[in-house]
Amino acid sequence: MAKISSKSSKLPAEGAPTAPKIKIAPSILSSDFSRLGEEVRALADAGADMIHIDVMDGHFAPNITIGVPVVASLRRHCSVPMDVHLMIDEPERYIADFADAGADIISFHIEAGNHPHRVISQIKDLGLKAGIVLNPGTSEEEIEFVVGEVDMVLVMTVNPGFGGQAFIPEMLRKIQNVRAMLGDRDLEVDGGIDEQTAPLVIEAGANVLVAGSYIFRSNSYMEAIDTLRNVGR
Ligand code: DX5
Ligand code: ZN
Repeated sequence: MAKISSKSSKLPAEGAPTAPKIKIAPSILSSDFSRLGEEVRALADAGADMIHIDVMDGHFAPNITIGVPVVASLRRHCSVPMDVHLMIDEPERYIADFADAGADIISFHIEAGNHPHRVISQIKDLGLKAGIVLNPGTSEEEIEFVVGEVDMVLVMTVNPGFGGQAFIPEMLRKIQNVRAMLGDRDLEVDGGIDEQTAPLVIEAGANVLVAGSYIFRSNSYMEAIDTLRNVGR
């Protein structure tokens, strides 16, 4: 194969996996829940590539957040894909409901059930994109035999439960390892993403950045989204 010469030292070495386009997925967990529809419209207008929706059941994660009816209500306000992150036990019980509610991507935790293959098929059979999620304490080896089936892997960079937690730097090595497994499919990171940590996760191979508190504490959603998207370049 002919070698393509390039002046950019940032291009990956020949044969190395190429990370796809950077996408920003604001997490509405840190938004004003009394104005969710408006918040979602404002985020899409500000350039969000998708809206990240954190679903917690008080069992798998130590918090209770958003359920199916809220996702269904948000659908008509949301002009970009809805990225539903299930932090719940027995995710298989709720996949069809979240699909009916209008989810575009459903991600579930490898730690949450015994039959991840079956859950991935359930999601894909409904015509949605399927993602698998790793808690900080879980090795990427746990997904070795299902990774071929998914559209996206989500590497948690904090423990599930709350916005505003500190990024766990040890996750950078996991992001590199997962990128090597994924080729050019989406690798999402979630937790503690701001202008300091975004360049690090992008360098390690992440391309979908979830951000909650960073975006919602900013004065301008558009500036915050642009900063995260461009800070690693
Ligand atoms: C944590 C959630 C995250 C959270 C991220 O369990 O999955 O999506 O909202 O919030 P920040 O960006 O504030 O760490
Ligand atoms: Zn999340």
